Amino acid sequence: MGNIVAPNTTNIQTASQFLKQGELVGIPTETVYGLAADANQPQSIKRVFDVKKRPSKHPLIVHIYTTEQLNQWASNIPSSAFDLAQAYWPGPLTMILPKHPQVSSLVTGNQPTIALRLPNQPITQSILAYHDLAVVAPSANLHCQISPTQAQHLAPIQQQLAMIIDGGQCSIGVESTIIDLTQTPAAVLRLGAISAHDLSQTLDQKVNNQAQQSSKPTPGNLKHHYAPQTPALLMSAEALHNFIQQQSRTDTLAIMSWSQKPCNFQGLWFQMPNQDVEYARCLYNTLHQADQYSIDAIIIQKPYQQQGLWPTIQDRLYKACSNNTTS
Ligand code: TXA
Ligand code: MG
Repeated sequence: MGNIVAPNTTNIQTASQFLKQGELVGIPTETVYGLAADANQPQSIKRVFDVKKRPSKHPLIVHIYTTEQLNQWASNIPSSAFDLAQAYWPGPLTMILPKHPQVSSLVTGNQPTIALRLPNQPITQSILAYHDLAVVAPSANLHCQISPTQAQHLAPIQQQLAMIIDGGQCSIGVESTIIDLTQTPAAVLRLGAISAHDLSQTLDQKVNNQAQQSSKPTPGNLKHHYAPQTPALLMSAEALHNFIQQQSRTDTLAIMSWSQKPCNFQGLWFQMPNQDVEYARCLYNTLHQADQYSIDAIIIQKPYQQQGLWPTIQDRLYKACSNNTTS
């Protein structure tokens, strides 16, 4: 079983060596923790699907540590990709490009395209650079569960990993924005910290937002995804208030709200940050925390704001509550 270890030089080199030997390693990124395997080793990639219990047709993101590696993984790269790399890499942006003919179809789920990202996390950059690696790195959670934003969240898959590098709390806390540059106009397939508007400004071109209606096999767009084990419900402030008043007991509830805990409330109360960046950073942590208790439901006050990271936060909340959304 892989220990959770500090990101010192020895451990970084050992992690790189493990990857080179075909082992799986838990790595920190600025978005969420990844389940990394050498993207050049088909056996290791197959193990990633097994460990995550992820359907094999769902493509993986290849993580690189320098923009020069783009040419090894993609072909016919449009100039827009280099413009976006210049503006946002290293950072929370994944680009979909035509795949290089030599890339294993295991990585891309048999699609002619490939997803590439250069994460803004110096520890992970060092792990990749030490043995000149590129790694597939899906979020290090079991398929359809909450993404990990702290090393301890990798516990459900820890047995199958050679090592987990502890990079602390992920600074962004939600998965990268995915932009498909093989379509014209380019399209955002998954919302993240970088908005379609930002991307459109950088490219000086229209960028569609297909994050909700993508027909491609993107597991991030499955209806029930990022979900805690405990049923989660999204409610307006008023509905939440009324719901609590109607309960005969409240000690079996967890609440994520902007309001202060009412004095007669007996359950778990998480007062959420007002600011979008801070909310995103603690969102999955809070869901992980609430999910540790044996409670009946997690009730989340619904955000309505449309600026900044709020649409991304709403997207993840809808997915976490996809079976149970009310007013
Ligand atoms: O922030 C992130 O992107 C994290 C960290 C670890 O880097 N990784 C991550 O990977 O979220 P994963 O596997 O959980 O999600 C990858 C997403 C999926 O929705 C997948 O369908 C999409 O990327 N994807 C990968 N290759 C694709 C392709 N060729 N075309 C369309 N979507 C693709
Ligand atoms: Mg994921």
